[in-house]
Amino acid sequence: MTIASESQLATVDASDMLGAIRTLPAQLREGYARARDARAAIGREWPHRERAGRPGPRTLIVCGMGGSGVGGDLLGAAFDVGVPVIAVKGYELPSWASEDDCVVCVSYSGQTAETLSCFRAAVDRATVSAVITSGGELGQLAAQHGVPVVGVQSGMQPRAAVGVLFGSLAGVAEALNVIDDAEDAIESAARAAQAVIDLHVGAGDQDGMTVQLEDDPPALAMARQITDATAVIYGTGMTVPIAWRWKAQINENAKHPAFANAYPELDHNEIVGWERAGACGRWAVIELLGPDILPQNRQRMDVTNGIIEDDLVASLRFQTTALDRAGATFELIVWGDYLATYLALVNGVDPTPVDRIQRLKQELAGA
Ligand code: PA5
Repeated sequence: MTIASESQLATVDASDMLGAIRTLPAQLREGYARARDARAAIGREWPHRERAGRPGPRTLIVCGMGGSGVGGDLLGAAFDVGVPVIAVKGYELPSWASEDDCVVCVSYSGQTAETLSCFRAAVDRATVSAVITSGGELGQLAAQHGVPVVGVQSGMQPRAAVGVLFGSLAGVAEALNVIDDAEDAIESAARAAQAVIDLHVGAGDQDGMTVQLEDDPPALAMARQITDATAVIYGTGMTVPIAWRWKAQINENAKHPAFANAYPELDHNEIVGWERAGACGRWAVIELLGPDILPQNRQRMDVTNGIIEDDLVASLRFQTTALDRAGATFELIVWGDYLATYLALVNGVDPTPVDRIQRLKQELAGA
């Protein structure tokens, strides 16, 4: 079923995912402020070693899954990080992790098995600097072990809390001397997010969706182009982790197949796979271009598009207008969140529930 009218779209969005997107700028500021309030406690635990002229950990390891884990990927997109940031998405810490490495565990619910497993390993053999959570078992474990907690409000979908989780993580990373000037960057990210929201709210996605069809919010118009196509999101450089966020948002909000890949690597394999795309369904490619894209990669995108365009039902491209990395990151995050949410709505899908994730967690827990 494809839903056409704006009032029908509002009805489908029963838990107001569009409203959650509008809170992202405030979330970013709030998360950063919460981490800043915990700064003294966070700094107490980190290994004070001089590395390349600056004190800090050897690496920052960010453990988290899904909507909670994405911040670990986005940190390196939005900031010039002073040490490697390793996003761990699984049960185990890297074998090399030691007390020279700072670990931050992020779980919105505080109940995620993989993140709890990493926390337990980290208290044994690394420096656990903070947890970011709304509570749950992770919050309890942190209290038992004296690990600082950056608390976030419960009641949201984890992926819709990306602003508060990311703002918190940025504040923690700054307290650990992994990034500098986080406050300015978070402000830039919040302003860039707001600019994209204004484009959509101005077009009428607030309070009853009263706009006419010819006034489709821009992401809704784009969603209409890919309603029955598998979405493939391509990034390069800083937009690679954002491409993964778009893929995950399209999966979870729209309950729709999506995949992600990166230039220039895809030009060495995936470009050939498109030859039989038509035999395997309908496909749309969406490319994300950040402010620091290399000219060589831009040229590759243009040439690749010319080669694969006949294999696709749609080809979309997003070039950020924000010139700084933090701003560009959240400009694209908000575009992706809108696209994924409108894709759900035009297909008659409620963007909020993720029944299959809940069912999986219950079955694994033996419920
Ligand atoms: O969006 C979701 O619900 C998931 O991607 C969760 O974020 C993921 O399952 C991890 O759960 P939590 O964020 O509570 O740690």
